[in-house]
Amino acid sequence: MTTAISVPLLDLKPQYQAIKAEIDEVIARVVTSQVFVLGPEVEAFEQEIATYCGVRHAVGCSNGSDAIVLALQAIGAKPGEEVVCPSYTFFATGGAVARAGLKPVWADIDPVTYNLSPRHAAEVAQQCRRLRAIIPVHLYGQSADMEAIHALGSRLGAAVIEDAAQAIGCKDAQGAMVGTRGAVATWSFFPSKNLGGFGDGGMCTTNCPNLADMLRMLRVHGSRVKYMHKHVGMNGRLDALQAAVLRVKLRHLETWHEGRRRNAAFYDKAFSAAGAADSRTPLGQGSGLPLRSPFQLPAPARHIFNQYVIRVPRGLRDDLRGHLSEQKIGTEIYYPVPLHLQECFEHLGGREGQLPHSEAAAVETIALPIFPELTEAQRAHVAEQVVQFVRTHSKSAVAV
Ligand SMILES: Cc1ncc(COP(=O)(O)O)c(C=O)c1O
Repeated sequence: MTTAISVPLLDLKPQYQAIKAEIDEVIARVVTSQVFVLGPEVEAFEQEIATYCGVRHAVGCSNGSDAIVLALQAIGAKPGEEVVCPSYTFFATGGAVARAGLKPVWADIDPVTYNLSPRHAAEVAQQCRRLRAIIPVHLYGQSADMEAIHALGSRLGAAVIEDAAQAIGCKDAQGAMVGTRGAVATWSFFPSKNLGGFGDGGMCTTNCPNLADMLRMLRVHGSRVKYMHKHVGMNGRLDALQAAVLRVKLRHLETWHEGRRRNAAFYDKAFSAAGAADSRTPLGQGSGLPLRSPFQLPAPARHIFNQYVIRVPRGLRDDLRGHLSEQKIGTEIYYPVPLHLQECFEHLGGREGQLPHSEAAAVETIALPIFPELTEAQRAHVAEQVVQFVRTHSKSAVAV
């Protein structure tokens, strides 16, 4: 009987149980040291992240949102300058741009990968008069087209800042770790990330020693020498407790990535067997099941599946979510309103129809449970319920 199984979108308890002894030990170590902000745990974690990501410098900070603000300040962006970023992303990407006093310029996504479309980014960037940076987001754990975006940034003299909040360990189409090509990459250790802390945490990485130095200053109120302030920075430091927990978790990260990738492969196979194509086939095309699994860039790229996001006809998406909820299956909508249509950005003049691929993704996508500790029975239950519902209800929805 599969119907009695419940499947939360994310359950962190089994992960903690599996590494409880290691975690409890390092928490006790930090508590005993009574060093809670920055300090040796943070420095050791920064070193380990730099090594893992293959970059020269890592600067721990308060969270992935502040990391973007810090990155923009570190490159010396001036108020009023423009930053091209995707509209279909978590709020922080655009929110941080605005918080740094800059103007977000929205670009559409590639409907296959949901990542910033280099073609559209080039189009909107060419209309900018004060372009300073481009922020690709490696959405859901899959790399944006870094080759094209890097070339665009170089051509237009714009810094590339990689919002890698969801993508630690992800590799791009050329097999390079994400975060190694931009001027700065920004990371989040929010608990739901593949590498998640016991609270908020973030990181900036860079290969440039000057930028690293600036980031270190900016995260402590723009100060290198205590009470001497060269810049107006922020209180954007990383806690020692978070660093200690994250150091333990980093040792297990590759195993967890593989668990997520196995679950994704299971869903891909189940959906394909039911007649679904991947997101390269638009929903209106193809004769099979109107469900699209996420397209993965082929190896040497590596998707780390922070989220597994499928696509169904817009008339069906919310009903599917309701049905899965009745079956005790947790889902989430990432993200129901693209940034160009958010109330707080109204003054930028965004309008419906402006970015069709972002707007379509916002009403057609839904994230399924993918965390590494999912049991075989749980993931089978999810796949079965999704397929059954879409099969039964798709005829009316496709016509919507
Ligand atoms: C794409 C993206 N950017 C930035 C952030 C911000 O990270 P944080 O929540 O650590 O501030 C997130 C967090 O969910 C994110 O998904």
